[in-house]
Formats: sequence, C-alpha cells, structure tokens
Amino acid sequence: MKPFNATPPLIDADALVKKDQSRLIHPHLPGDSTERVVMVEGAGCWLRDAHGREYLDATGGLMLAHVGHGRRELIEAVAGQMSQLAYYRSFHEFTNAPATHPAERLVELAPAPMERVYFTSGGAEAVDAALRMARLYHHRRGEPERTWVLARNFGYHGVTYGGAAATGFPMFHQGFGPMMPNVRHLTPPMPFHPELYGGEDPTEFCLRELRETIEEIGAERIAVMIGEPILGVAGVVEPPADYWPRVRELLTAHGILLVLDEVITSFGRIGRWFAAERLGVAPDFIVTAKGLTSGYVPLGALLVADRVANVVTRDEGFVGGYTYSGHPTACAVALENLAIVERENLLAAATDVGDHLGARLRRLEELPIVGQIR
Ligand SMILES: Cc1ncc(COP(=O)(O)O)c(C=O)c1O
Repeated sequence: MKPFNATPPLIDADALVKKDQSRLIHPHLPGDSTERVVMVEGAGCWLRDAHGREYLDATGGLMLAHVGHGRRELIEAVAGQMSQLAYYRSFHEFTNAPATHPAERLVELAPAPMERVYFTSGGAEAVDAALRMARLYHHRRGEPERTWVLARNFGYHGVTYGGAAATGFPMFHQGFGPMMPNVRHLTPPMPFHPELYGGEDPTEFCLRELRETIEEIGAERIAVMIGEPILGVAGVVEPPADYWPRVRELLTAHGILLVLDEVITSFGRIGRWFAAERLGVAPDFIVTAKGLTSGYVPLGALLVADRVANVVTRDEGFVGGYTYSGHPTACAVALENLAIVERENLLAAATDVGDHLGARLRRLEELPIVGQIR
C-alpha cells in the first residue's frame, strides 16, 4: 500500500514542464531536451509525479533519503527551529545551540578519534574545506611546499573547483580549465576491469603506482590524498580489503594526510555509521553530507582528527567559512535524523535489506548481459 491520498494534487503538469524548460538550468541535461519528470509528492520510499504516476524511490533521490520521505519528526524539527531561530552565523565567536548538538553526536559516532566538526552546505564544500585544511596544516607546521593533492581516476568529489579538480572524470575538467593545480590522479582498484592493471594484481598495481608517484613528486611536496572508501559515481565499486589499510600505512610513512569522502557511504548506507569502520582505517578527515539530513535540508560536515584540528584552529583560526556553516535549522534536522537512524535500527535494516537484494540479484549473474552484482 502506497501512502498517498487517492487523488493526486491538481497540477497543470504541461505548464510546469514548459516553465521548467524555459527557465531552469539542469545539471547534465542537454538544452534541447524536452523530457521532464516533475515529482510532486514523497511518502516513505514512494514518489508521485505531476501526472499521478507512482514510483519506488530505489535510488533514494541522489543516494540520500535514508529515513524516507515525509517524516513528521523532521518536518517538526524544521518548524520548531525556524520558529525559534531560523538562521544565525557561526563566524568568529558566534554560535547556536543546534549546531553544537549534531557536532557532539558526530564526534561520538566517528570511527576514529576525530574531535572537531566543520559544517558546510553540502559535500563538495566539505571536500574543499578538507583540501584547504590539509594544506594549511602543513603550512602552519613549517612545510608550506606540501601542496600536492593525490586523487583517483573515477573518483567523484563534487563540482566546486577543488572538488572538481579532485574528481577523476575528464568531463568535469573539459572546458572548465585551468583546474586547481598540483592534483595527480591515480588508478583505483576495480578488479572487475583487469585490463586497467596489465595483468598485475589490482591492489599491488595501485600501491606500486602510489609509491612511484610519491617518489616522483616528492613526499615533501604532497599534502593529502582523497578517495571514496567505496567508489560511488563510478558504479559502486568496493576495493579489495587490504587496499585502504595499505594506502593509509604508506601515506602515514610519508607524512601525507588522508581524506575519506564518505558523502555517500556514511550514516547507514553500508550498514555502519561510516565505511571507515569496515575498512579498518583511521583517516585524518571524513567528508559527509547527503544522509546527514536525509536530504530534507542541505548540510555537509567535515570531521577532523585532533592533530590536524589543533593546528588549523590555532593562531588566527581556520580562515574562511560559509554563510551557512552551522545553519541552526539544518543542524536541528541532522540531530533528529541521526536519532531516527539509531531509534529505528536502520544500520541493521540496511544490512538485512542489502543481503536480501544481493541474494535475489545474484540469480541474474548467469545472464550474459550481467557482468557483476555489487
Ligand atoms: C563521494 C561524493 N563526494 C562529494 C559529492 C558532492 O556532494 P554535493 O553534491 O553535496 O556537493 C558527492 C555527490 O554525489 C559524492 O558522491
């Protein structure tokens, strides 16, 4: 039973589509495209469009609708906070109560000692903040020449200039250059594509490439490496179990920081609060967004390890903030959203549903057009 009223809201779908076509710029949509799907209602895992058609929201929007659509608790969190104080800045000494609570909760949930949180409006802003903090950390410690960023082909880190520079798909660079300099893309392990590794074991290939790159650029010029624990946009690709621990070890040996971009993988999507728990690595930064508020309002967060936070907050502090850093309403939603994930045991539910779906889908593996079930 889908939880919608029998009669969909009365909407002039054709007029809406016309207005959309003439006024909106959509990401990744050719200008002459006339196709539009106008969503008007969401309830639980269901959506309904302007023509009254119903859909199972199997992608969770853009991989973020962790607690489902139409949650009363989140609506009330927004209304309650907006009635009291919809917005105030968190620059300088100013703060607000709702920003402190989810920060505390994130620190409790963090898979490694990470005592500080920097709020943003979304994932790419948090990626930029991580890259800036990584460079500042080395600069303040007397190694200002450590500016290089190691990223990976097929990695996705959003489309701010820092995020896009780290992103490893050429389509995000072509026509937008010059991109941020001093970024090198490495090969990630994708065992389903052995042609990328010329017969070598994928992890061995990647580790050798990383070692050679560090030697070529010079460890003393490399600030940080960024990667998704599980490649998302590239097709949800899990790495071999020893890949990240070995990468972490190599980076640590050379004084290079590690950012895990967990914009997709955090808050239960893989049955843990963070994928880093499953990888068994302690990063210096974790980038999150999306499931932090289940998409109800925009919010991203950067979790920062103590030793880095202690350096970037000293002297004049971390220079640069976003207008919406620590947005009270967004933070109030995050706190309640995290409470729902916990109260309703959604981490265990993700594992159960994932196991069920995986088992059923694996039956399709024999079909010649199916390459791999992930
Ligand atoms: C791994 C990863 N990092 C960063 C981003 C960018 O996040 P946002 O679109 O909120 O800026 C995304 C978005 O899909 C992502 O998947």
